[in-house]
Amino acid sequence: MHIHKYEKWWLTFGAAMLIAFLVIVGVSAFHGGTHPNNSKWTINYEKVDEIAPFDNPGVHKVEGKDWDYEVVLVASAFSYNPMEIEVPVGSKVRFIATTKDVVHGFEVAGTNINFMLEPGYVSEKITTVDKAGEYVIVCNEYCGTGHAMMYSTLKVVD
Ligand code: CUA
Repeated sequence: MHIHKYEKWWLTFGAAMLIAFLVIVGVSAFHGGTHPNNSKWTINYEKVDEIAPFDNPGVHKVEGKDWDYEVVLVASAFSYNPMEIEVPVGSKVRFIATTKDVVHGFEVAGTNINFMLEPGYVSEKITTVDKAGEYVIVCNEYCGTGHAMMYSTLKVVD
């Protein structure tokens, strides 16, 4: 079969574009990695309970740091530990969180606190809670049958 030379050119061009596209996708995927945005370090997710600070989840007042409270949080299907977080209004809080099993979300509804928890990674966020109130914390990553029941509460008190 005779292939017109323009047709041939377009075939070559198309193939070249496809290869270029795959290279770009491949390079960015491996280069950027797939770990969550707020992730600072890695952890053995099977031993979360034994590794500090996750061996002691909860709200901890700290001294001599740039923040006032550390909230150590462990997510697992289908709950958060601690179930309830209470901090005084105006305090600067460092959230340090991870998951013991699958991917979970951590979204404090109505605030800019929203991050992904991925097995093997620790996510963190430092923020000032400047509005008193009771906030619902929801899991915004589908994690299984109990996903919709996975929530907790953040109380910012006066
Ligand atoms: Cu945990 Cu959805």
